[in-house]
Amino acid sequence: MTNHNFYNKILKNQDIYSVLKKLGSPIWLYQADIIKKKIQQLKKFDIIRFAQKACSNIHILKLMKKNNVKVDAVSLGEIHRALYAGYTNKNDDIIFTADLFDKKTLKKIVEMNITVNAGSLDMLEQLGKISPGHKVWLRINPKFGHGHNKKTNTGGENSKHGIWETELAIPIIKKYKLKLIGLHMHIGSGVDYQHLKKVCNTMVNYALSLNQKIQAISAGGGLSIPYKSTDQEIDIEHYFKLWNQTKKVISKNLKTPITLEIEPGRFLVGESGILVATVYAIKRVGKKIFTLVDAGFNDLIRPTLYGSYHHISVIKKNNINDKKKKTMKTIIGGPLCESGDIFTQNEKNELIERELPEIKIGDYLVFHNTGAYGATMSSNYNSKPLIPEVLFENNIPKIIRRRQTIQDILNLELNIKKEI
Ligand code: LLP
Repeated sequence: MTNHNFYNKILKNQDIYSVLKKLGSPIWLYQADIIKKKIQQLKKFDIIRFAQKACSNIHILKLMKKNNVKVDAVSLGEIHRALYAGYTNKNDDIIFTADLFDKKTLKKIVEMNITVNAGSLDMLEQLGKISPGHKVWLRINPKFGHGHNKKTNTGGENSKHGIWETELAIPIIKKYKLKLIGLHMHIGSGVDYQHLKKVCNTMVNYALSLNQKIQAISAGGGLSIPYKSTDQEIDIEHYFKLWNQTKKVISKNLKTPITLEIEPGRFLVGESGILVATVYAIKRVGKKIFTLVDAGFNDLIRPTLYGSYHHISVIKKNNINDKKKKTMKTIIGGPLCESGDIFTQNEKNELIERELPEIKIGDYLVFHNTGAYGATMSSNYNSKPLIPEVLFENNIPKIIRRRQTIQDILNLELNIKKEI
C-alpha cells in the first residue's frame, strides 16, 4: 500500500466524523485552501478560466470569482450557475464553449451578450444571423489530440469537438461582422509536454495563417494532477514558458498585444475533494473479498467509465487504528444493481484488488482526489439521491449542497400537467 505524503492533504478525522454525524454518509468534502493554492500556481497566466464542468457548485464558483478566476460555461445550466455565483457578462467573465447551440441557450447568449467560443461553423452562422457583431472565439480542432483515456481525447479525426476547416470560419465572421476575439485549443485531459509543444506550434501556425487581428489565445485545460503517489506533478513553469513563448511569437507577428488564457478544470479542484462512504458489507466470493460501501458509480463514475484510479484510505469507525497494522486485499464496490459498480478496476474493466488496512463494518472509506468530475458526473441511477457537498474554509465546514431526497426525485414524475 502506498502511503505517500501526498495523500495527507485530507481533513483531520475529527472534522470528517463531525460532518458525517450531522449530514450522514456518503458525502463530498472539499477544502478551499487547496483550491486557492492551485489558483496561485497559475498566477503567471494572464487569465485563468475555470472549466466549471469539473465542479460546478455555485459556492465553488463564488470562491473562484473571489480569487479573480473567470469561468467557462458549456450549457445553459452552467451559464445560470455562473450568474448565480455573481459573474456578469462584463469583461468576458463568462465564455460559452460548445459545438452547438440549442434554442434556449442561443436566446440567453444573445440576450446577455455572452461571448461564444464556437466549436462549429454552424454555430457561427446561427449566431451571426441573429446577433451580428457578437464576440466570438474559434475553438480549433488541431487535427490531433491526446487524453488520459480515449474518451477524454478532444482533438483529431475521432473527436466531435472544435472546427476542422478553420479557414472557412473567416468568411462567416466577415459576413456577419462577428468580432473575433481569440483562438482556442483544447486537445484533451492529461497533456504531456511533447504534445504540448505540438499544440503550441500549431497555435502559432493557425494564428499566422488566419492572419486576423485577435486579442487572445487560450491554451484550453487538460493540466493533469497526480492520482497515484507515483504520478508526477505537472511542471507549471515549463507549461507556462511554452505557452508564453507562443503568445510572444503570435503577438510579434500580428503586431498586437495578446492575452494568454488557461482553462483548467481538474487542476484547480481535483485534489481539493474527497468522497467519504461507509462500509456496510464485506463478503467473500471465491478467493476474493468484496468490500461494499454506500457510494456507487451513481456518485463517482470515473473508475467505471475510464478505469480511473483513486487512492482509497480507511478511517476506523471508532478512530482507533490497529496497532498491528494488519492489512487485507479487497475489491471495493458500491450498492448498485450492476456489476460495473466497482471503484477498483482498470481501463479494461478488470477488477483489481487493493491492499488496505483491515476493514470492518462501519468503517469509512475515503476516495481521494475526487473534487473534479466527481459530484458533477453523479446521477440518480437506481433512484439514488444526489449526496451533499461540504466546503471547508479556514477549518469551518459549510454545506454547499443539501442531500437530495427521494421525494425530490419522485416530484419530477408526480403532479404533471396532462396536456402536451
Ligand atoms: N476546456 C474544454 C474545452 C474542455 O472540453 C475541458 C474538458 C476542459 C477545458 C477541462 O479539462 P480538464 O482541465 O479538467 O482536464 N470527465 C473526464 C474529463 C472530461 C473533460 C471534458 N472536457 C474525467 O473525469 O477525467
